[in-house]
Amino acid sequence: MTHEIAVIPGDGIGQEVTPAAVEVLEAIETVDFEFVEGDAGDAVKAETGEALPQETRDIAADADATLFGAAGETAADVILPLREVVGSFANVRPARSYPGLDAVQPDTDIVFIRENTEGVYTGIESEITEGVRTLTRVITEEASRDIAEYGFDYAKRNGYEDVTIAHKANVMRQTDGLFLETAEAVAEERSVPRTDERASGEAASSGLTYDTALMDALAMHLVMTPEEYDVIVCPNLAGDMLSDLSAGLVGGLGLLPSANVGEDNALFEPVHGSAPDIAGEGVANPSAMILSAAMLLEHLGYDEEGEHVRTAVESVLESGPRTPDLGGDAGTTDVTDAVVDEL
Ligand code: NAI
Ligand code: MG
Repeated sequence: MTHEIAVIPGDGIGQEVTPAAVEVLEAIETVDFEFVEGDAGDAVKAETGEALPQETRDIAADADATLFGAAGETAADVILPLREVVGSFANVRPARSYPGLDAVQPDTDIVFIRENTEGVYTGIESEITEGVRTLTRVITEEASRDIAEYGFDYAKRNGYEDVTIAHKANVMRQTDGLFLETAEAVAEERSVPRTDERASGEAASSGLTYDTALMDALAMHLVMTPEEYDVIVCPNLAGDMLSDLSAGLVGGLGLLPSANVGEDNALFEPVHGSAPDIAGEGVANPSAMILSAAMLLEHLGYDEEGEHVRTAVESVLESGPRTPDLGGDAGTTDVTDAVVDEL
């Protein structure tokens, strides 16, 4: 069976790290891919007036999955519609620290499951009168249930023990009230409340545990004791901010992959952008993009292959070569070649 993968490198270092991920996928002998390339971003907008041409939308819609590098100034005009094209409701953002790297918090292994369609990212904003503007925050029971169910399934499937539901229902009583109520109902069906038993390591025998957390206090706990968290289910904005915060804990943007998951399509992209400050120099760290390709493999059901890719990246991160963002002097292709050799 051949899997059709849409490949959209985009702008800046997207053009450098995306081929690295394709090269790694091509090195996996047990899976057949056909890659179809599409344009998106600043460069194609300058040429055609459109940041996301219809042809590229069609390529992503028809593919089994999409790999996206990064766009520049036009990022919002590219990634938001692309997430819609693949029908993505869940944004999966793992923040893991790797052995041998000098991370702020070397014991971090957290996966953020961020609601990807509503919250404050609805774009429903208006100017009421001069100097007064409003935004409509939308929370639905359906999207809250979908993201909570996805979070608990993800935790179980990937061997995590605990799920935290982030919210601010004490202030946003209606909207986050509904989010919390709905997510907790899912939690009660699938887990037991987190108690001290987790500290004594008995959670695994009783299945998943869960807890709820106010998102502001959670931000502090993530900085101080990230090792206490596994999977965190969040409304849209909270997930965006808490996952970027956690990126800082584990060594920076060059390391963080992500997935935008829908019912029957998905898009995989590094968390970073087009990095104009280093674009064209051949020194971008391809790890985030290659780890995104590992998530793609797992999404298509190739868990073992995904794990191989992750292990290969881990081993190269530990023993080198490393790009300048991690203190080394290697180039993108040196790191990519090393990962392919590991495979
Ligand atoms: P950025 O992620 O592009 O860069 C931030 C810093 O991290 C820079 O110093 C960059 O050199 C470094 N960096 C990022 N990825 C790296 C990698 N793989 N290897 C080594 N160093 C890396 O974010 P910034 O500077 O805020 O935005 C630059 C452009 O990217 C903007 O035009 C923005 O709109 C766009 N952007 C696009 C995104 C997307 O397409 N999903 C996401 C974020 C930003
Ligand atoms: Mg962000």
